[in-house]
Amino acid sequence: MNEVLKTISGRRSIRQYREEQIKDTELRAILEAGLQAPSGHDSQPWHFTVVQKRELIDEINAGSKTAMRKSKVDWIAKLGAAENYNIFYNAPTVVILAAKKDAISPLADVCAALQNMLLAAESLGIGSCWMGFAKFYFSDQPSYKKIGIPEGYEVFYALTLGYKPAGWKAKPRQRKYENFYRMIK
Ligand SMILES: Cc1cc2nc3c(=O)[nH]c(=O)nc-3n(C[C@H](O)[C@H](O)[C@H](O)COP(=O)(O)O)c2cc1C
Repeated sequence: MNEVLKTISGRRSIRQYREEQIKDTELRAILEAGLQAPSGHDSQPWHFTVVQKRELIDEINAGSKTAMRKSKVDWIAKLGAAENYNIFYNAPTVVILAAKKDAISPLADVCAALQNMLLAAESLGIGSCWMGFAKFYFSDQPSYKKIGIPEGYEVFYALTLGYKPAGWKAKPRQRKYENFYRMIK
């Protein structure tokens, strides 16, 4: 297996982080990897907000959980109410991914960038997790203003980054289905 394939199969969502902040050079390499993603019509509609200020990360966590508690989906409402649950798993860095609303495919473009960033992080030995719950915080305009998301952009997802706990090892992936692909030649 080459290094790219090893990185792809070794990546896992990390939900526990060391306190130590990742290096700026590592962060920049991950952000740049996001910007190398494909985008519909090469529109490159991305905007990434890096949050490393603990109080702000805590505020987004608390705001997301308040909104999650009102979810009609039972397990989401329960996680929102769980006192010890931190949606960012106390990661030292959170990246909020937005894209221009009027782009041709903003959601797909954000997802492509995010996946590149997860793989870049893994290649650098940095833990990461794709974060859907952060969207709950961005359900109103005041939160967009508070975080300073540029006008005309929509937040779709966030990403946590931080060093993995010592001794962390990826477990082999359990496949849920047999027929994920077939060949027509
Ligand atoms: C669209 C999307 C949203 C996700 N949101 C969350 C989330 O809010 N919290 C979380 O802990 N994991 C989240 N994940 C991570 C998935 O739970 C994870 O990718 C899945 O369980 C497979 O595990 P792996 O990433 O270790 O391969 C999300 C993944 C995707 C693709």
